[in-house]
Amino acid sequence: MNAPAHPYRVAVFVSGSGSNLQALLDAQQTGDLGNAEIVLVVSDRADAYGLQRALKHGVAAAFVPLRRPRDPAVRAEWEHRLADVTAAFTPDLIVLAGFMRVLSPVFLDRFPNRVINQHPALLPDDGGDAFTTSCGVVIPALRGAHVVADALRLGLPITGCTIHRVTPAVDDGPVLARAEVPILPGDTEETLHERIKQVEHRLIVEVVTRLARLNG
Ligand code: GAR
Repeated sequence: MNAPAHPYRVAVFVSGSGSNLQALLDAQQTGDLGNAEIVLVVSDRADAYGLQRALKHGVAAAFVPLRRPRDPAVRAEWEHRLADVTAAFTPDLIVLAGFMRVLSPVFLDRFPNRVINQHPALLPDDGGDAFTTSCGVVIPALRGAHVVADALRLGLPITGCTIHRVTPAVDDGPVLARAEVPILPGDTEETLHERIKQVEHRLIVEVVTRLARLNG
């Protein structure tokens, strides 16, 4: 008889709805997440629905508030606290799934090479400012918190989503997966973001399962 696979412990950070977290929780429930197990959900917002999703699935949920985000000392103290709470659950992987705070080396150095991020736009492999789509169209690499609106404002024909390892450079770091999403006539930020999320849900399950298999 085979020994049971070593569980690959995953923490998920959310700031909002947490539909990507839900995709991971659903995959875990149906046995489609390999040996990965969601052991912790963390949010910087008390009202993040992702915390409720965690509790409904019997997963530990932690709210770690950041009171004065612009004060560097407060921010560093918050990152230490966030790292302490997270470390207590000994995660093999931390997934930023709609976590709307930038993490500095204060946090990242505690979990080297263990943090990945979902980004709702296409990012290139080389960290550059442009991305060439599969049909050869060159579009800007959109970074920041408003990239779905930016894609519409710039009139791009295509956008998408990227999952990458997190480095101190914002929305950068080695790409693990990406997928293209066409922008349709009449798209609003809401309709476009919803279609991007549908693709993200599949992609995040694929990436976590793959990393779990490689490291489990
Ligand atoms: C996702 O589209 C994710 O890529 C994006 O937030 C959304 C979260 O959706 N992340 C960022 O913009 C990070 N800068 P969800 O809360 O429904 O999973």
